[in-house]
Amino acid sequence: MDAYLILNGPNLNRLGTREPDIYGAETLLDLERGLLQFGEEAGAEITCLQSNHEGDLIDALHEAEGRYAGIVLNPGAFTHYSYAIRDAVAGISVPVVEVHLSNVHAREEFRHQSVTAPVTYGQIIGLGFAGYRLALQALIELKGRENK
Ligand code: DQA
Repeated sequence: MDAYLILNGPNLNRLGTREPDIYGAETLLDLERGLLQFGEEAGAEITCLQSNHEGDLIDALHEAEGRYAGIVLNPGAFTHYSYAIRDAVAGISVPVVEVHLSNVHAREEFRHQSVTAPVTYGQIIGLGFAGYRLALQALIELKGRENK
């Protein structure tokens, strides 16, 4: 069974209480439970990780090499300025889909730029929890094409 990593960055552990008008009332646990269920139905093994620390996210990206067929990454605010996370994504061969719950383009200007997106396989923005499922689906289909 192919394995996929869901990697959430800073402040996403506060989903449900953090700015619910923007991020909704559901928690990180709700998100992760839904993705585990989605993985079970799709025949994929799902591992979920969240960290508020840049270095931990970088370590998780490095350690993903050879272990996961794809990564769904929400780098949180690191998206907008972390060249270190960008370099980590660029430096692994595992495909990464970047996801944002909110429509960052409809928000403050500093959120309009992603320094990480150019080195990812793709990006899904503004679709809430559905974005993570769609990202996983895209990675599963990519793997399926590679296996042919
Ligand atoms: C976010 C958008 C970022 O700008 C913000 O810093 C977050 C969450 C999102 O999922 O919409 O922490 O990545």
